[in-house]
Amino acid sequence: MSPKREQQTIVVGVTGGIGAYKACELVRDVMRRGFRVKVVMTESATRFVTPLTFRTLTGEPVAVSLWADEPDAKVHHISLAEAADVVVIAPCTANVIAKLAHGRADDMLTTTVLATEAPVIVAPAMNTHMWRKEVTQANVSALRARGYAFVEPGHGALACGDVGEGRLAEPALIADAAQAEACRARDLAGVHVLVTAGPTHEPIDPVRFIGNRSSGKTGFAIAEEAARRGARVSLVTGPVSLPDPFGVEVVRVTTALQMRAAVLARFDSSDVVIASAAVADFRPATFASGKIKTADAPDAVVLARNPDILAELGEANGGRAVLVGFAAETSDVVTYAREKLAGKRLDLVVANDVSGELGFETDENRVMFVSADAAEELPVLDKRVIARELLDRIAALVDARKSL
Ligand code: C5P
Repeated sequence: MSPKREQQTIVVGVTGGIGAYKACELVRDVMRRGFRVKVVMTESATRFVTPLTFRTLTGEPVAVSLWADEPDAKVHHISLAEAADVVVIAPCTANVIAKLAHGRADDMLTTTVLATEAPVIVAPAMNTHMWRKEVTQANVSALRARGYAFVEPGHGALACGDVGEGRLAEPALIADAAQAEACRARDLAGVHVLVTAGPTHEPIDPVRFIGNRSSGKTGFAIAEEAARRGARVSLVTGPVSLPDPFGVEVVRVTTALQMRAAVLARFDSSDVVIASAAVADFRPATFASGKIKTADAPDAVVLARNPDILAELGEANGGRAVLVGFAAETSDVVTYAREKLAGKRLDLVVANDVSGELGFETDENRVMFVSADAAEELPVLDKRVIARELLDRIAALVDARKSL
């Protein structure tokens, strides 16, 4: 589907474990698959394999020190971070996992990882006891939640003499993961994705409004991930306290009517619409231009129905764009999601049960992807990971539509 593109760059980080010698095979394998490879080593890694080895294999300078004098006078860790389509760290020690989990940046590798927008794959290798330690597993979980991918260590004889988990995964497996991530890194190139996010606020008077608890986190995560994967992204959001995602057109609105206008203005050029906004179904029928005095409080607020933006798009669409809706329910999630799918003529509904702890304002959620013929239940995941999973499904739908 994607147009012919320039060679992608995989930055391979090598840390100080005996598995470092296997990184030579990894580098060769990744290069054989057509990628350009740049290697970054920690000081300890250079005790196991020399930079010259990787320099000879890749034909590229090998970065080790933050303080080396760069011939082209560029800030090296930033240029590496920007050049990377994917970063793979293999082998990755417990120490580097801990540093990454805490955002430390005290050497070339960790600084590059902190500065990159590219997906990061970690292939741990260490002694079984170090791998199983609660603190290591907590660090791994924290990184996974932030979207880092892991190629699990294998089981077998370790260099220290122990037998157990902790061996670096086979280089071919790590190269497979890097290649899959590299495909994903550009799979939305040339696609215009329109995302709605957040609540809407429907004013009663200049200081009061009807709103809801949507934080916008899911929609912002989707917009950010889509942009990272090469899409042109427009994000129409109600009032939230989140910063603009990098490289995204952000349109900030307040009311459902404003959201409708901003969405309709962008619909014709959109290939995908992901409506994650919790649009208020009703607005006060009248707006008091001055603050209503406490003593004058009305007994009731008369409401008017807001337009259903997504249903309107579904009607106008005729199967052109991929339309994705959200369904927050408190019971019979799949049944209601299917009703929404048919009623609004959608391709996919992201359904969740908001009767429990998860949903609004949380960083994690448990969702189902419901289409006409399938209902896929995901485990509890960080909203950023949900965004990635969702965009995997959407990229496949876009591909299928293009090949029609
Ligand atoms: O019918 P319900 O409000 O539960 O549908 C939720 C889905 O419809 C969400 O994707 C939401 O963004 C969208 N929606 C909309 N305009 C409305 C109400 C909901 O676009 N007025």
